[in-house]
Amino acid sequence: MKSMRAKFGIEPLDDVLLNGGIPKGNIVLIVGQETAGKTILSWQFVYNGVKKFREKSLFVSLEGRKKEIIEYLSSFYNRRISESKSLQIIGTDKINEFLLKNDMLSSPIEGLIILLNEVFSKFKPDRLVIDDIYFLFPLIEKTSIQKEMFRLYLFLKSKEITTIITTMRYWDRSRLTMFCEDNCCDGTIELEMAERSIGLRRYILVHKMRGTAHLRKKMPYEIADGGIMIYYDKEMY
Ligand SMILES: Nc1ncnc2c1ncn2[C@@H]1O[C@H](COP(=O)(O)OP(=O)(O)O)[C@@H](O)[C@H]1O
Ligand SMILES: [Mg+2]
Repeated sequence: MKSMRAKFGIEPLDDVLLNGGIPKGNIVLIVGQETAGKTILSWQFVYNGVKKFREKSLFVSLEGRKKEIIEYLSSFYNRRISESKSLQIIGTDKINEFLLKNDMLSSPIEGLIILLNEVFSKFKPDRLVIDDIYFLFPLIEKTSIQKEMFRLYLFLKSKEITTIITTMRYWDRSRLTMFCEDNCCDGTIELEMAERSIGLRRYILVHKMRGTAHLRKKMPYEIADGGIMIYYDKEMY
């Protein structure tokens, strides 16, 4: 029987924090400040999705051209990342070309939806990452961002693809995201960085996840050659 959960392939995130993984079809936001590890964690979701769980995956980067993204992720894994029948990568080069050809669009999010819809007609992934949606926000009227995010959410929900969208942490702790993007998703995972007397420390916390009794506990993590490593408990943290 096919699993009803999409796992990251990272313990204890899958079985302890998420109580089995992300319920399939959920749209999940990964929130964190710059260098928190959003790109790496979302990439692991896609990479392990293909390698460990045999699920087709699409990685959409709004941070760089496809070549740059492949180079960044390959250097991190110490091996060349190649696309296959199960893995596709789209970068800003393709997105920009698409937006220029379709300059009558009401917003870049509408463009992204149309582009994804075109891609899905040929390559329908089980898993999708959009990294990092924040890069589109300067191109959208501030008052429209929530509405646009909701359009994206409705579109992705109709496709039944387990999706991770990354976005920036709001600088003030009074709320999680700048434009309340976390209202337009089924789950939120925060990657927090904090200065301690012993240096910079990183913590992961699942704020919400529809469809699973997740654990609301901060756990320390580190970024190493093999990706994000999460610890049950670590002294001094
Ligand atoms: N091989 C590695 N070993 C340890 N840390 C790494 C490695 N590769 C990248 N990093 C760290 O990962 C962080 C960037 O991760 P990234 O996912 O790109 O962040 P974000 O997308 O949140 O801005 C940086 O702090 C960088 O130092
Ligand atoms: Mg990033």
